[in-house]
Amino acid sequence: MTKLSKVYNTEDLRRAAQAYLPRLVWDYIAGGVDDEVALNYNREAWDALKLVPRYLVDVASTDTRTTLWGHTWKSCFGIAPMGLQGFARPGADGMLAAAAARHGIPFVLSGAGTATIESITRQAPGHAWFQVYVAREPAVTLDQLKRAQDSGVDVLVVTVDAPVHSKRERDLRNGFVPPPKIRVPLLLEMLMHPRWCLSMLRQGGPRFENWAPYAGKNADTRAIAAYFSRQIPFIQTWQSLDLIRQSWPGKLVLKGILDPRDAIRAADAGVDGIIISNHGGRVLDAAVAPVQQLPLIRAAVGDRLVLMLDSGLRRGSDMVKALALGADFVWIGRPAFYAVAAYGEAGADRVISLFQEEINLTLSQIGRPQIASVLRDTSLVINRC
Ligand code: FNR
Ligand code: LAC
Repeated sequence: MTKLSKVYNTEDLRRAAQAYLPRLVWDYIAGGVDDEVALNYNREAWDALKLVPRYLVDVASTDTRTTLWGHTWKSCFGIAPMGLQGFARPGADGMLAAAAARHGIPFVLSGAGTATIESITRQAPGHAWFQVYVAREPAVTLDQLKRAQDSGVDVLVVTVDAPVHSKRERDLRNGFVPPPKIRVPLLLEMLMHPRWCLSMLRQGGPRFENWAPYAGKNADTRAIAAYFSRQIPFIQTWQSLDLIRQSWPGKLVLKGILDPRDAIRAADAGVDGIIISNHGGRVLDAAVAPVQQLPLIRAAVGDRLVLMLDSGLRRGSDMVKALALGADFVWIGRPAFYAVAAYGEAGADRVISLFQEEINLTLSQIGRPQIASVLRDTSLVINRC
């Protein structure tokens, strides 16, 4: 595996994670759905966008500070919610959260996370948001909201783009679907990843920690997972969203919006922001790329919503493109997962510094050292197609 000092980009992180992880875990993280068209298309959409640089500007120092709802972050990106991080490395959720706090950016704990809301907010005070997967039993969701509020979480993210199970063919082939039925060849393949095996043996396997209190007294890892898959996925509607809005006094963000009409509806429903996302190509394989919808959504909602975006961002220049096209903020998914899987805490720091260095470089190269001067300036971007 490449030494961390020789990691120059997110592709290096991807390759290192692939080497470190057994196929079962790797496929879960890296995979998409069906033919993985959306997964690849997300990248094509970024690559098709070109920046128009300007020169003869003093670019000696850059400023990427970004303010959302009155809070100023050190940069324009954060770490998106991702489930089962502890399956890649024990304590991974906490490592990414703590690294985000050190770098002054937000981390979103997944509703399918492997650390409790309480522990993550302790590790990253003021930097942790919580993403809820709304449960079949409303009392469970309401309790998770209360726990998040009691722990000092300011922003709640409700993921809306996974109302039913998606067809993840890699996971189906691997038997990595509830209840897991993993066949011998795959178990043997795990042994070829001894460092990962040892770390799992020491830890005893990750749990959906935030669901443990509801799964029954003395529920073990398997019972908690079974409980989780009885509660999720749950079909939400605009009507059921009202209960969440009424029960959550902080900022409310919907994740997975792609249609401008849904964005308008979200604003009407009292939502504060959205994450324009196709879940990193993990839900609907025919989905449009989020960046294609961004200008339409900005035009539809104006200033009524904070607009954030994820899916397929792999370079600092992708982030600059998103801001120019109307995003207030962006999120990284897999690159952060790969980094913490392969390199632990040091990897968590590295993925953040990597993106930060590339943003600074891009801002200097386009003659816009202040990130504020990029925001909503569509003249900065042209579409090759
Ligand atoms: C995710 N994502 C996700 N989203 C969410 O709202 N809750 C979740 O629990 C998860 N879990 C999850 C696991 C894994 C392994 C991945 C890769 C992704 C989606 C995530 O928040 C984000 O939308 C995408 O990862 C962004 O795309 P990129 O950056 O991975 O291309
Ligand atoms: C995923 C779920 C956890 O994308 O959202 O794997």
